[in-house]
Amino acid sequence: MNVHAHAAQRAQAAGISIQGIDLSYGATRVLKSVDLEIEPGEFFAFLGPSGCGKTTLLRLIAGFNVAQAGKVLVGGRDVSTLPPWKRDVGMVFQSYALWPHMSVRRNVAFGLEERGVRRAEVERRVEAALELVGLGHLADRKPSQLSGGQQQRVALARTVVVEPKVLLLDEPLSNLDAKLRVQMRRELLDLQRKLGLTTIFVTHDQEEANTICDRIAVLNEGVVQQVGTPMELYDRPVNLFVAGFLGTANILPGELKSSGGERVFAIAGGGGEVPLPRRELPPMGAKLMFRPQNAAIVPASAPATAGRTRLMGRVSHCEFLGGTVRYVVKIGAAEMLIDVAHQAGEPLLDHGRDVAVDLAVDKLCYLAS
Ligand SMILES: Nc1ncnc2c1ncn2[C@@H]1O[C@H](COP(=O)(O)OP(=O)(O)OP(=O)(O)O)[C@@H](O)[C@H]1O
Ligand SMILES: [Mg+2]
Repeated sequence: MNVHAHAAQRAQAAGISIQGIDLSYGATRVLKSVDLEIEPGEFFAFLGPSGCGKTTLLRLIAGFNVAQAGKVLVGGRDVSTLPPWKRDVGMVFQSYALWPHMSVRRNVAFGLEERGVRRAEVERRVEAALELVGLGHLADRKPSQLSGGQQQRVALARTVVVEPKVLLLDEPLSNLDAKLRVQMRRELLDLQRKLGLTTIFVTHDQEEANTICDRIAVLNEGVVQQVGTPMELYDRPVNLFVAGFLGTANILPGELKSSGGERVFAIAGGGGEVPLPRRELPPMGAKLMFRPQNAAIVPASAPATAGRTRLMGRVSHCEFLGGTVRYVVKIGAAEMLIDVAHQAGEPLLDHGRDVAVDLAVDKLCYLAS
């Protein structure tokens, strides 16, 4: 593929609109009123725990599953009743599903030959697709003679060679070892940017979604919990599930109280009181949530700092993680995790030491489940 072909493909990028999807297997509802809008050219992730419905939703977009209600639009066209091969959608399956008896070249050519593309054209496009994923030199090998990462690239080449408008990737990196996974996710991002293809990437690994995707939909039990950029989801989760799924969170139960004319949140177990936001009151049954880096450990006698509220506690555990030290501080019966950046030569705080914990008031969230 030359530069002009890439530009042409980018111009063709199609948005995806998922509207009111309900899907059940027998009596089990697997997708519940799913609505999503994915922009043309966007790198989008479905993120959620095992069994939450990610693959089911992806297969629905590709045309391998049928919903009981709702529709799917690709590039503004309702494809709900079209078979997979008429949807302009390419899917890379988790298992890659390469033909073991065919060479790399034949695997990539297969889809074009099935579509009746002329032989010279097939050859040209297969070469270009293999070049794109850096496998031109391995075209005559069989899949069994390739590493996991190379097989994954063949699966990608085989999908992009038919020039779909949408690329669907179901946990494409999960078969690779940790180091290769990091390398491949960067390559995948480069490829996606080069082709400008609307891409949906399914994963249950939040780091993977955070590092390569423009926006993420977090799913749980077939329900979309929140859609946003990685940073929006991390900084402003709408509920406790999202807060806990994206990174480490301190989640503390407690109750609303009045104290000295001010409304406060009293942490359960005698953990102390923290101020509530002035404007909006927390939802019913809300818990306090903050990230381990939104608190500081200071000497018990340190003067108060503006914008921070103080709790008194005791160090009960610590883990040296290299760049940071993660402390567990007990405040009443409650425990919280606090991350402190490590400086060379700085000793760890002793277990049992009395400390003050200063919480950044503007970073405190009150969330319901
Ligand atoms: N063909 C099927 N028949 C009945 N139930 C199914 C079928 N396929 C999936 N399910 C159920 O639907 C739910 C969603 O499955 P799905 O494969 O979409 O999950 P997932 O989010 O992709 O999980 P994972 O991260 O483990 O791949 C699960 O509870 C699963 O057991
Ligand atoms: Mg799956």
